Amino acid sequence: MRVGILTGGGDCPGLNPAIRGATLRLIRDGHIPIGILQGWKGLVQGLTVPLSEERVDEIIREGGTILGTSRTNPFKNEQDLQRLLDNYHALGFDALIAIGGEDTLGVGARLYAEHHLPVVGVPKTMDNDLGGTDFTFGFDSAVSVAVEALDRLRDTAKSHARIIVLEVMGRHAGWVALYAGIGGGADWILIPEIPVDLNAMCHYLQQVYHGGKHYGLVVVSEGVELPFAQTDQPIVLDDFGHVVLKERAVGSRVARYIEEITGIETRDAVIGHIQRGGPPTVFDRVLATRLGLKAAELVSMEQFGSMTALHGVEVVAVPLTEAVRNLKLVPYDLYEEARQIFQRLVLQPQRSGAV
Ligand code: F6P
Repeated sequence: MRVGILTGGGDCPGLNPAIRGATLRLIRDGHIPIGILQGWKGLVQGLTVPLSEERVDEIIREGGTILGTSRTNPFKNEQDLQRLLDNYHALGFDALIAIGGEDTLGVGARLYAEHHLPVVGVPKTMDNDLGGTDFTFGFDSAVSVAVEALDRLRDTAKSHARIIVLEVMGRHAGWVALYAGIGGGADWILIPEIPVDLNAMCHYLQQVYHGGKHYGLVVVSEGVELPFAQTDQPIVLDDFGHVVLKERAVGSRVARYIEEITGIETRDAVIGHIQRGGPPTVFDRVLATRLGLKAAELVSMEQFGSMTALHGVEVVAVPLTEAVRNLKLVPYDLYEEARQIFQRLVLQPQRSGAV
């Protein structure tokens, strides 16, 4: 079979190991792997590149994706969809392996269900918010970067007796903020799933600070809704209708609020795309390789319309529709579990007028 492999959506560490795993197993099973450049855009435009054992041999340690990526949604206009279908046949493909998150796999699920294209999905996203799998690759690498940032911020926050707010990615889900906050020992964690209580946070930070610690660390997810007015920047949507969050400056707004309410000097840091680059952690290398291998195996078995997934320590196949049905959000109980650590002091009652 001629099998096209593409990577779509935001890049993350682990994409290259997944491409490598799928390519090596496809070759082993007697198939021809072909790289499709820039996600679904590459199939719309007919952009391909050969994949061989030599080409993928050393990419296990490389961040990003050798195939490039885009946030192209071919279902957004009829012509693009037709060009994609025409190219699929003109390029002689027999199957596709789509490596991506909710948007890329959502397109894959529709191509399979509505146009009968034989698609197998591989889950990736640093946000870890994809359904059907326990973890996605990219997440462990991103969290490791965020924890390192917190370790560094602790040194400077402590030296200057400041509070520092770290803003991390996470559009709909707070997995990165929660894990970074636990792993980096933050004093408060704000995630999109849990309504923020800024006054409780400020009151707690004041107690921590004046109780002898003399500094504080807060982690906030970029997707958190704040109870005061948003910036007046125009709302920009991507191809899939998601709000582009780059102008929201959640971290700096939280920092300003803390400083205003507590009177403690507060700064913020945003690590942004730094979380998405660099070599994958060992966990992500192994997970991505296994998910890629399994995807090629599913192609050989002609088990299309499925996605590879991690269940416990097993790599299994689940229906693509299951993966894209609902986002996997941080459960309330897990946040409360973390709260036992970050909010460990018993709060003294607030004096009236003070936080
Ligand atoms: O979808 C993953 C993600 O990393 C989100 O957490 C973030 O909001 C978004 O991508 C940023 O995308 P871009 O690279 O297009 O700015």
